[in-house]
Amino acid sequence: MADETIEALLLEQRKFPPSEAFKKRAHVVGTHLYDEAHADYEAFWARQAEELVSWSQPWQTVCEWNPPFSKWFIGGQLNVAYNCLDRHVEAGRGGKVAIHWEGEPGDTRTITYAQLLDEVERFSNVLRGLGVTRGDRVNIYLPMIPEAVVAMLACARIGAAHSVVFGGFSSQALADRINDASAKVLVTADGGWRRGEVFALKPQADEALASTPSIEHVVVVRRGGNAVDMSAGRDHWYHELMARADERCAAEPMDSEQLLFLLYTSGTTGKPKGIMHTTGGYLTHVTYTHKYVFDLHPDSDVYWCTADVGWVTGHSYIVYGPLSNGATQVIYEGVPNFPGNDRLWSIVEKYGVTIFYTAPTAIRTFMKWGTQEPAKHDLSSLRVIGSVGEPINPEAWMWYRENIGRGDCPVVDTWWQTETGGIMISPLPGATTTKPGSATFPLPGVGAEVVDESGRTITKGGGYLTLTHPWPGMLRGIWGDPERYKETYWARFPGRYFAGDGAKLDDDGYLWLLGRVDDVMNVSGHRISTTEVESALVSHPSVAEAAVVGANDATTGQAIIAYVTLRGGAQATETDLRNHVAKEIGAIAKPKTIYFTPDLPKTRSGKIMRRLLRDVAEGRNLGDTTTLADASVVAELQSRAAQSTED
Ligand code: WTA
Repeated sequence: MADETIEALLLEQRKFPPSEAFKKRAHVVGTHLYDEAHADYEAFWARQAEELVSWSQPWQTVCEWNPPFSKWFIGGQLNVAYNCLDRHVEAGRGGKVAIHWEGEPGDTRTITYAQLLDEVERFSNVLRGLGVTRGDRVNIYLPMIPEAVVAMLACARIGAAHSVVFGGFSSQALADRINDASAKVLVTADGGWRRGEVFALKPQADEALASTPSIEHVVVVRRGGNAVDMSAGRDHWYHELMARADERCAAEPMDSEQLLFLLYTSGTTGKPKGIMHTTGGYLTHVTYTHKYVFDLHPDSDVYWCTADVGWVTGHSYIVYGPLSNGATQVIYEGVPNFPGNDRLWSIVEKYGVTIFYTAPTAIRTFMKWGTQEPAKHDLSSLRVIGSVGEPINPEAWMWYRENIGRGDCPVVDTWWQTETGGIMISPLPGATTTKPGSATFPLPGVGAEVVDESGRTITKGGGYLTLTHPWPGMLRGIWGDPERYKETYWARFPGRYFAGDGAKLDDDGYLWLLGRVDDVMNVSGHRISTTEVESALVSHPSVAEAAVVGANDATTGQAIIAYVTLRGGAQATETDLRNHVAKEIGAIAKPKTIYFTPDLPKTRSGKIMRRLLRDVAEGRNLGDTTTLADASVVAELQSRAAQSTED
């Protein structure tokens, strides 16, 4: 209904303008970039492409827009690996550290730009030797080791598209993705380190390979040292192929619209979608956003993004954005709590990390572990801290700012998606006054609007987040399924890209992301975001993490059900927390039931599985829970839900 809006109940009054000290060195202070982009967004992106990216042949047309299909920098040619490696070496920066890599057991590797280029050139020749040519697909299934970066850049260098599958995915998930892309080669490892032990990858890959007829060769990196079967003729050790490979492999110019990679997103149901990203526009988008959102100064900054390369954040903000900008970065193989809960902070101290980018779910976990963990280390090198992946609750934002950012690092909450390729909505740290929990404004060059049910633009209150014009990093479609692309993103609001997220605009025009729209509850006719109730719960001093779902209810339509994890040693009753939510938001937002649980069920990428919690709350059979990080959490919750119904 047209008059229905999402109730935006949480009121956040705190504001943090950029400090004078930060502004002194910042790339962007004031509104000039916004003004320029507002006047002509195509010309704005063209300037970024010209200044930040090296082209071997200039483009003729900035953007061709045949809704919903766009092409950028048409006629231009470039090589992404050249932009990420060769141009820095040619400019005399070959000795600069590209990657400080730290294995979970504590072993380290320091890799300069010149060394990374050597490795990528040789691996490009390895791939060619295995029959990979321009336009082929290569699957990558690796732990967080430098060879993942090498393999991706080698594909880019020879014009093959990579499809990286997160190492935590099952063999079935890997097989589905290989088959959908008809990949020719798989790059994997024997195993990797996780929580003090080797997890085997090659045996998983072997299971997948039983049903992937397109794969001709498998390259295996030795990392875990675990025993593996090698199938003669098909499987090859990375180090053996590399020892024999030619050293030089010229970076061939690619068309701006050449497919750079596929990345599969696990939609809530059905077959995963192979999101397509191409060359020139994508590289422009990630280089630009990485430079300005993090205020990167490549000569002095040490950047660290804690994502896995298996997710889009790893693609855009570990591999392509940082390397294109010539940054020095940290890559860490393992979990944040091995050997202790302070591992990440010990890495920040050791390498003098200045820019740190992580996810709200990690931040709430750090809260649960307590402030004594970061306090064990000198974090004074940090100057910008970022967040991505979920709405960040104001309390988690404040905790992050105070305990990791010493109360004076700008926090950049960055909204984007696998589909958008790069960051879309975020503060610029030297220009934007932030509010805890708000992603603030669309970046210069990005058009975003909130619309109501009927697609009318609204300037205040809640609705649906849409993008109003094309941007260079936008997905070019879904691999093999153009109809699904139109249906999923462009059908709901004609002429607009619908992101699937709810958002609200406050009185000052700040954007607040409210989570996926299916996470918006309807209680007694009031639409309440699960995120707002979660934020209220997390603002209670005893609460570390909370997940809220709307469960069907005969009287109120939906009832609010909360799952809460308390901070170590803290106490609170259900009544305490219900009253606290009533105080923070209002009585209508009080959870009907609160379950206390030591952990919440999460996907392997760390997103709380709200759909599954809704199933638990409504007593439904759960079916397949194999994508869960820890399936026992669910069994435990189910038995409690059953008990409470019997009570
Ligand atoms: C959510 C991750 C609120 C959102 C880069 C989006 C966020 C989905 C934020 C995409 C944020 C991501 N605030 N929500 N800062 N960042 N999201 O494809 O629901 O893994 O639609 O890309 O994550 O997830 P994806």
